[in-house]
Amino acid sequence: MSDKTFELVNPETGKKTALPVHEGSMGPGSIGVTGLFKEQGVFTYDPGFAATSSCKSAITFIDGQEGVLMYRGYPIEQLAGKSNFIEVAYLLLYGELPDKSSLAGFDEQIRYHTMINESLLRFFNGFHYDAHPMAMVSSVICSMSAFYHDSTDIRNANHRETFAHRIIAKIPTIAAAAYKHSQGQPFIYPSNDLDYCSNLLRMFFAVPCESYEVNPVAARALDLLFILHADHEQNASTSTVRIAGSSDSNPYAAIAAGVSSLWGPAHGGANEAVLKMLNEIGSTKNIPKFVARAKDKQDPFRLMGFGHRVYKNYDPRATLIREMCHKVLEELGSANEPLLELAMALEEVALEDEYFVKRNLYPNVDFYSGIIYKALGIPTSMFTVMFAIARTVGWVAHWQESLEDPDRRIGRPRQVYIGPTKRDYVELSQRG
Ligand code: CMC
Repeated sequence: MSDKTFELVNPETGKKTALPVHEGSMGPGSIGVTGLFKEQGVFTYDPGFAATSSCKSAITFIDGQEGVLMYRGYPIEQLAGKSNFIEVAYLLLYGELPDKSSLAGFDEQIRYHTMINESLLRFFNGFHYDAHPMAMVSSVICSMSAFYHDSTDIRNANHRETFAHRIIAKIPTIAAAAYKHSQGQPFIYPSNDLDYCSNLLRMFFAVPCESYEVNPVAARALDLLFILHADHEQNASTSTVRIAGSSDSNPYAAIAAGVSSLWGPAHGGANEAVLKMLNEIGSTKNIPKFVARAKDKQDPFRLMGFGHRVYKNYDPRATLIREMCHKVLEELGSANEPLLELAMALEEVALEDEYFVKRNLYPNVDFYSGIIYKALGIPTSMFTVMFAIARTVGWVAHWQESLEDPDRRIGRPRQVYIGPTKRDYVELSQRG
């Protein structure tokens, strides 16, 4: 905490309260209001937590005005250019880049835990063939709470680490099982001699009757997307995981809560919504009509993949994904090029429109990611599942950090009550 304080004066009593400022290593400080109710008898009101820091965190830093994103201090552009998803996962979980042997040990652990209990696999048969994969994935992750009892003592650091390795290793297997179920195809077991993303692609697209070669371009593209989606500080799903975990709940249940929160189209579900929107727009000649709809306050339609609570500048992840889109389409075939051209034309129109300029609405991470997933052969309904696979690393890192936080308390916000004041019960026979 710094020496800086803010003074709050009660307009009725004149009573003054000095509020301390919690300074971070970068970015704005936060006024501490914990003692405010005791001193002044009022709470703070901040719908959507737009101006509230819910915790102290050393994992990810965002400067939304400048369009900066860093994991543990490392700029996202450097990690995207030089690292890989497993190394980034290590960095997010343990705080430092690994040396060679730590990386090899971590990679081995993740490969070791890729299989899921056969009983869990049978759960998928209980789902209708057209169940949304996010419904299957969140349910099966929550069901993991009924297994793996050897490593769910949240106060035991070794248990926490085993849980972290297990969930990161198993989520691609669960995602692939959901995909195979929706296709009516047999499940493909993981192959631990493959790296994380190659293994995932094989579990998705291999069939028992044919040999399957992983396309290294596809594996690298997926790895890059996973790096960019791995963490994003206190977003809705991460905050959900922290709050769910704050009651000492089973860690798998906390992660399942995060998956549920991610699903919504205002959050991770936006990648699926962007593709649906681009298909609906269909052609550049329809862009003005859709932009007009997005600006019309009577119309609930929004430009999906545009806008962000924190970024008031171009999302740095969108810049990297847009670049990657060109390379991936070049190397994997150009069937999806018209979609990319349409997306770029839409971006151009929106970025020159006063409505979007005035509100600082720029493309976010989800605007271009779906075009790459589509080029990799991943169906639209699986896009948010791909996001969930990558973000699991961030959720686990934040869950672990929250457990070790000396300021940790159960998450329990207050409210401004606006319901009826006290009134007496009226007997049914006397109600009019
Ligand atoms: N299209 C049209 N208008 C928009 C959009 C949009 N995509 N986004 C925000 N606005 C307008 C909004 O109507 C409001 O206008 P006004 O000031 O006249 O009332 C203003 O911009 C501020 O918007 P807000 O809803 O108060 O902003 P927020 O911080 O609460 O919401 C958001 C952020 C991401 C939910 C929102 O921008 C949105 O719905 N975007 C589309 C969905 C999307 O792409 N989500 C993915 C976010 S990035 C990945 C992730 O989080 O997982």
